[in-house]
Parts: sequence; structure tokens; C-alpha cells
Amino acid sequence: MNETENSAERLISPKAQESVDSQETSLRPSFLNEYIGQYKIKERVSLFVEAARARKEALDHVLLAGPPGLGKTTLARIIAHEMGTQLHTVSGPNVDKKGDLAVVLTNLQAGDVLFIDEIHRLNKTIEEVLYSAMEDFKIDLIAGQGPAARTYKIDLPKFTLVGATTRSGLLSAPMRDRFGVELRLDFYPESELQAIVERSSGILKISIEKLAALEIAKRSRGTPRIANRLLKRVRDYAEIRDAKSKGSITLSNAKNALEFFEVDERGLDTMDRKYLTLIIEKFDGGPVGVETLCSALGEERDTLEDVVEPYLLQQGFIQRTPKGRMSSALAFQHLGISPQVTGKLL
Ligand code: ADE
Repeated sequence: MNETENSAERLISPKAQESVDSQETSLRPSFLNEYIGQYKIKERVSLFVEAARARKEALDHVLLAGPPGLGKTTLARIIAHEMGTQLHTVSGPNVDKKGDLAVVLTNLQAGDVLFIDEIHRLNKTIEEVLYSAMEDFKIDLIAGQGPAARTYKIDLPKFTLVGATTRSGLLSAPMRDRFGVELRLDFYPESELQAIVERSSGILKISIEKLAALEIAKRSRGTPRIANRLLKRVRDYAEIRDAKSKGSITLSNAKNALEFFEVDERGLDTMDRKYLTLIIEKFDGGPVGVETLCSALGEERDTLEDVVEPYLLQQGFIQRTPKGRMSSALAFQHLGISPQVTGKLL
């Protein structure tokens, strides 16, 4: 498999890519009134913040669930800003020693937000330390070894844990029970993504036609991170391949750029098309088990389940059944394959 086909390198991968998303932070809204979309979530966060501030207390722990790239990290940052406190960020798989977590916890000030990304990937021992930290704002630290070892109870300031997960189903029940609030982010509609592209263009000083912003929005798989990434790549194309536009993004150069990057009208890229073609042509439209698809595509199961499939499911290109994945009539239609070839239709 060549590099561009690998999901981690995909232009439309919703996962954060440091080299590509270096300006992402500058595009991220800092306060709720700058955050576009997810209106129900915004209203709730606004209410919780106002109530916590009025009581001069830390906000209750918040669990943010949803596919990657929809703004979970941004919301955690906004919560800290709105509360007027500091944000501390760690990622679940990177915290592997109790001591690492203890350092982070003991550095918190009252009201601070501790953001734990991919919280479903914390190991069990770390989870157990977090339970008492979240519930009683205390942790047990062990100093020394063997018979001389002593346990110290350390009081922590009242902080807010904001946990983010792409798979709330994988979170353990005791962990989930310790969150006072669970908020689910969903894919953004085109109009909101268009507004996000226009806002980002303003920050990056890119001139863009409204219809070009809409075209990028349509091909961004409901995901702001992808919209912002496509915007930057379309700008590259406009600057180099459409010199007369002087870097301005027009509907015409945006369409040409997106075709050049092989992102189609529904936002599907070569990886998605390979995935759908595989189910249709090799497995007769399905059902086919996810492990079989992983090995045929050379992808990790997590990547298929967290990154590739959620949008295909949401858009109705595939269905998950107890026997495996099945492609829908829409997938046949989109790829221009006649259903008669397989004789199967959902
Ligand atoms: N950039 C990324 N996500 C955003 C959002 N929801 N609103 C505004 N700008 C964004």
C-alpha cells in the first residue's frame, strides 16, 4: 500500500496530523460564541458553566463522545476558557504509569480542566487512580518499596475532568458513572461546515467565494478538521495551478483542486472507495466480517471502525449487521456499479 492510501496519511482522515494541522490551534474557537454548530451541546455547556461559576465551584466532570475531528478538544479548551481556568491535556494511551497521572493531578489548581483524550484507552490501574480523584478529589501515593513502603493520601483541588472518546461503548461502567454530564457530538451539516470554512478563511486571510466554501463543506465528511485541512490544500492548488486567481478560491478552482486530490462529491477518497468496492466486488455486497476487511485493506481494526466507517454508516453507504458489513444500494449507485452484478441489494 502506498503512503497516501494509508489512512493515517489521508487528506480526509479526521485524525489529527501534526504536520498538516499545525495551524489548527489558531483556527480553533476559544469561546462558545465563536463555536459553530452543535447547538444543543453549546446550550448545555453554557448553562453548566454559568451555574458552576455562580456557585464558585468546578464544573462537574464531562464526557465528550463522538467520531474524531468534530471538536472534542476544542470544547474542552472552551470550557476552561469560559470557566477562566487552565486546561491540562493528556492522552489516554500515553499515561501508562500511576506516577505520570499523579504528577498531572497534583499540578492542578481549583477549577482547572484536565482533558483526557481517548479516555477509553486508559489502562485499568490508571482508571482506578482516577476513580478516587474524580469522586473524592483524593489520590493514594505510595512512597518507598517493600516493607518500608508507605501510602500517603493526597488531597486534590476540585477540578473538572473532561474525557473524550471516539467509542463510548468501550468505556468501563464505573468510569462512565463518574461523569456528571455526557455530551455526544454528531457530524456537522453542510451549512455549518460552510460557515466554519468561511470563518477559517477569514483567520487565514484567504479570499473565498461562498459557493467554493460550500463545495469544500460538502466534501468534508461532516467534519470541521477535514474542512479546515481541505481549505488549506485548495489554497495551495489555487496559488500554484490557477495563478490568475492570485490565490483566491473560486468555485471552479476548488472543484478542480478537490478532483486533483481525489476527494469526490460526497467527500469519499480512494480509501473509502476501495473499502466499498471490496465489499461489493469481492464479497458480493456482504455481509463480510470486519477482520476480513482489515486484512484485505491492510488497515487496523480501530482505524476502520473509528475513522473510515462512521461516516459511511451515517451516510447510508454501509450497514453493520450481526454477520458483518453490508454495502447499500447507495454504495452501488455512487460507485456506478450495477447491483445485478452481485444480485444483492439492501
Ligand atoms: N473550527 C473547528 N471546529 C469549529 C467549530 N465547531 N466552530 C468554529 N470553528 C471551528
